[in-house]
Amino acid sequence: MNKKILITGGAGFIGSHVVRRFVNNYPSYHIYNLDSLTYAGNLANLRDIENASNYTFIKGDITDSDLVQSLFTEHNFDGVIHLAAESHVDRSIANPMSFVTTNIIGTVVLLNAAKATWNGDFDNKLFYHISTDEVYGSLGEEGFFTEETKYDPHSPYSASKASSDHLVRAYHDTYQLPIVISNCSNNYGSFQFPEKLIPLAINNIINNKPIPVYGKGDNIRDWLFVEDHASAIDAIYHNGLLGSTYNIGGHNEWKNIDLIHLLCRIMDKKLGKEAGTTSKLITFVKDRAGHDLRYAIDATKLKNELGWMPSLQFEEGLEKTVDWYLANEEWIGQVTSGEYQNFYEKQYHQR
Ligand code: NAD
Ligand code: DAU
Repeated sequence: MNKKILITGGAGFIGSHVVRRFVNNYPSYHIYNLDSLTYAGNLANLRDIENASNYTFIKGDITDSDLVQSLFTEHNFDGVIHLAAESHVDRSIANPMSFVTTNIIGTVVLLNAAKATWNGDFDNKLFYHISTDEVYGSLGEEGFFTEETKYDPHSPYSASKASSDHLVRAYHDTYQLPIVISNCSNNYGSFQFPEKLIPLAINNIINNKPIPVYGKGDNIRDWLFVEDHASAIDAIYHNGLLGSTYNIGGHNEWKNIDLIHLLCRIMDKKLGKEAGTTSKLITFVKDRAGHDLRYAIDATKLKNELGWMPSLQFEEGLEKTVDWYLANEEWIGQVTSGEYQNFYEKQYHQR
């Protein structure tokens, strides 16, 4: 079936994997990638598919309601997969306003354009909102986030994502807009901007710089390979139940410090260093404000309803990720020039 799908934030980390998957796997779809190319967006993430005949890139901001409405009017999209967001918790602590603007207002701009264009004719239409497990807040040592867990966000980032989730649901309940939402745990893999823990640590190790671990490194995250997130998004886009929410996660919890030790062992091996060399770079720094202790996803609903399962074990995925960063130092060099230096200076030299 021919479909026109608008993917927002497709030049970012997860978005680029989703765009690549849809462009390659669905030649009869046309994929429109709307991205304003912030520091986190990079067209180099999509070099391999940029000339595909079923792909169009549009540089633009999701908060620009005239632009977004004109795109809907021109193309009358069948579906939206909305990933564009400010996504880094530490940046949200330093500058909450851009998170409110993009994550909340940008989402409403897209919802309004979909509502106005579809105008009650919702056959085969879908607005798919990509969200995060951080909306659920923090777990103690036991338990998992389910789709019924009460929202309890703590950072400006997670509060802005929670707000956007509520708005998407409100457009379903109020205007019957056909929506689906998924809330995923921490992703890792190729093309992740080196402000997030794993690529930041890999980049610092390559450059023989300290690996900053917040607090005592006791916080726990549930890590999922990014291509597995993209496969879950594919399954939910095509078969998810309208109006519902799906949690996505890998049942793969790691304490930050244990993850960093594993990464150090892999890097020793890959860089031909004596075992124990890289872990000497580990440096404990001031904790993140409001730092959530533990995230862990119960993805039973997704498995039972749509048969989705992660494909990779963590050690294998982490090794693949390290190999990618080692083979793509030019990409890292490009994304860490300019703005990144200012960010790094402010973020880490004050700790
Ligand atoms: P990212 O920061 O790597 O990419 C975000 C993309 O959005 C960039 O290409 C950026 O240029 C674009 N963008 C930002 N503001 C925009 C605007 N106003 N208009 C148009 N484009 C804009 O983010 P990511 O890690 O790939 O996350 C993508 C989505 O998935 C986000 O909604 C995030 O909340 C969610 N998510 C991320 C993770 C994770 O571990 N990274 C986990 C669960 C959910
Ligand atoms: O859970 C999903 C979320 O995962 C996504 O919604 C966010 O967009 C994504 O950024 C990620 O959020 P986290 O805050 O969990 O990811 P981050 O990589 O920033 O941090 C992971 C853990 O590592 C967290 O406990 C903080 C810690 N950390 C992070 C950095 C950048 C460090 O110890 N040192 C660091 O330098």
